[in-house]
Amino acid sequence: MSIEQLAETALAMVAPGKGIIAIDESSGTIAKRFAGVGIPDSEENRRAYRELLLTTPDLSEYISGAILFDETIRQKTKDGVPFAQYMSDNGMIPGIKVDRGTHALAGFPGEVVTEGLDGLRARLEEYYKLGARFAKWRAVINIGDDVPSGTCIEANAHALARYAALCQEQGLVPMVEPEVLIDGNHDIDTCFEVSEVTLRALFDALYNQNVALEGTILKASMVLPGKDSGDTTSVEEVAEATLMCLKSAVPAILPGIVFLSGGQSDDDATAHLDAMNRMGPNPWPLSFSYGRAMQSAALKLWSQDLVGNYDAAQATVFERAKANGLAALGQWTR
Ligand code: 13P
Repeated sequence: MSIEQLAETALAMVAPGKGIIAIDESSGTIAKRFAGVGIPDSEENRRAYRELLLTTPDLSEYISGAILFDETIRQKTKDGVPFAQYMSDNGMIPGIKVDRGTHALAGFPGEVVTEGLDGLRARLEEYYKLGARFAKWRAVINIGDDVPSGTCIEANAHALARYAALCQEQGLVPMVEPEVLIDGNHDIDTCFEVSEVTLRALFDALYNQNVALEGTILKASMVLPGKDSGDTTSVEEVAEATLMCLKSAVPAILPGIVFLSGGQSDDDATAHLDAMNRMGPNPWPLSFSYGRAMQSAALKLWSQDLVGNYDAAQATVFERAKANGLAALGQWTR
């Protein structure tokens, strides 16, 4: 796989006015989301729900690709078409979550490191055969008293870079996701500092491990005050802080940056993205790779009547895709 082909995929992922829908919740997370709205967590319900999302009519107008979970990439529509095949046939790039979640970082209470490197080369080879063209690995950085440590940031950056190098070797675009969590009572300046240091460590590690940035996508968290801080920040303040942080730490050669929603309200996630694009031109396309901010409204609606609300739930997915697609162009109006 040439760098040119990886770069082509990466650019298609952030095509103007398009973003990614993250539907890669692990078994534990989807069970939690379903429990929250009273849907029994069965394999068939998980399949049906992912089918609802992926087959939303005209989704590809605003969605360039979707991140799937291991179970999901092996599932099919009710008509027997593998989801990855359905996506390619309908102009969307299949992606796959390949990390194996966060685990306590030994010796560093309150901090976590993402696992999943063992056997990753063989898994990536299989995912490519199943149709995946990009992959995702999420590292989690907590903010708290004396946290994060430099060791935690380094360990996660190192793992992200090893994953990214393996992805490129196997023909998949790595989406590198160092999520600085919104949990805590820290202020926005603390989030800025932690995000900046985390991103700098990540790009150092990518450089050291010969990862081609032209074929890499960053999935970033926005710079926000902690959710328990009680601080209120304007949309412009968040957009300015996030842009300044990214400009300070992310090389301009990167083909694009997509954001996670990370517990923001649907409207905030859209408004912040829109504001950043209005403040452009920026060095990279800025788009979305939202999970909750793309799905929450649809999941709630669907849960109230799995058959009767099917079409309305899909219409909600489309509305969220359209709003975020316009925000990726700085053209969203509330
Ligand atoms: P949220 O947008 O719900 O934060 O999820 C995005 C994601 O993929 C986190 O890894």
